[in-house]
Amino acid sequence: MFNFEAGSVTLNSGYEMPLNGLGTYSLRGETCINSVKSALQSGVRLIDTASAYGNEAEVGQAVREAMTELGLKREDIFVITKIYPGSEMADPDRSIQACLDRLDIGYVDMMLLHHPDRNDVKAYHAMGKFVEAGKIRSIGLSNWYVKELEEFLPQVSVMPALVQNEIHPYYQENDVIPYIQSLGIVVQGWYPLGGRGHTAELLGNEVISGIAKAHGVSSAQVILRWNLQKGVVVIPGSGNPDHIRENSELYGFALTDEEMAQINALDRNEKHDWY
Ligand SMILES: NC(=O)c1ccc[n+]([C@@H]2O[C@H](COP(=O)([O-])OP(=O)(O)OC[C@H]3O[C@@H](n4cnc5c(N)ncnc54)[C@H](OP(=O)(O)O)[C@@H]3O)[C@@H](O)[C@H]2O)c1
Repeated sequence: MFNFEAGSVTLNSGYEMPLNGLGTYSLRGETCINSVKSALQSGVRLIDTASAYGNEAEVGQAVREAMTELGLKREDIFVITKIYPGSEMADPDRSIQACLDRLDIGYVDMMLLHHPDRNDVKAYHAMGKFVEAGKIRSIGLSNWYVKELEEFLPQVSVMPALVQNEIHPYYQENDVIPYIQSLGIVVQGWYPLGGRGHTAELLGNEVISGIAKAHGVSSAQVILRWNLQKGVVVIPGSGNPDHIRENSELYGFALTDEEMAQINALDRNEKHDWY
């Protein structure tokens, strides 16, 4: 399913999505603009934002500027955004249009429902209408696990192209990932490095740093590569250009089956956020 040579995966919507990107949660203002541009300069072609992050305008500005400065076409860049539960999903046409207006990049490659909500089916249908109008290319879900998917999927006719959930070595979702993948849906992990405040535990883990040393790469690269070899797309967040570049260099080494098994054994079912 994953094409490691091209660094992309074909979604069930027919579009190609890069296997690694930049997460922009917690990036604001100039830091956000500079980080997105730095990612695009390092060859990263996937950017994850959300209405709730309050930085869609900055992401859009960075994408437009990078297109001019780096000679990229809009089709070269894959932008994900999300609409939030509550008032946004209650009036989805308006909130979807607001995302498009704030981003101002013509169309959005992927729009997700950020969390389950009482209006999620209605909001999903609204996203479908924007797909028909050519304003969104693919649609999906975030923070939907097995139970939520079993309840949601019978109510919609378009299969989500992507599910974005918390996934890292201490919260591996080994029961959830194969289920989602068996439906032909691509899985993307958030908090790949454990999330802010938790990265030291993961990057300093002895097993992970030992594997990193053996390959001459960083702990972050080992964790990201472990995700890719499990068929999980990664969107590490960073405001540091050196980390952003490092996080994109994931294709020059491969973990052995034994190393994958060693990291699989670190699972603690330890969530780092409530959803
Ligand atoms: N759908 C959802 O509900 C949801 C929820 C949470 C997150 N997300 C998405 O997932 C993305 C990733 O999550 P996140 O950014 O919160 O957490 P993360 O990627 O697990 O970790 C980010 C932290 O790791 C550090 N870091 C990044 N690369 C590093 C490297 N190579 N070496 C050392 N430290 C490194 C960053 O610091 P520096 O800035 O110093 O590099 C930052 O403190 C978010 O940005 C967002 O797009 C989605």
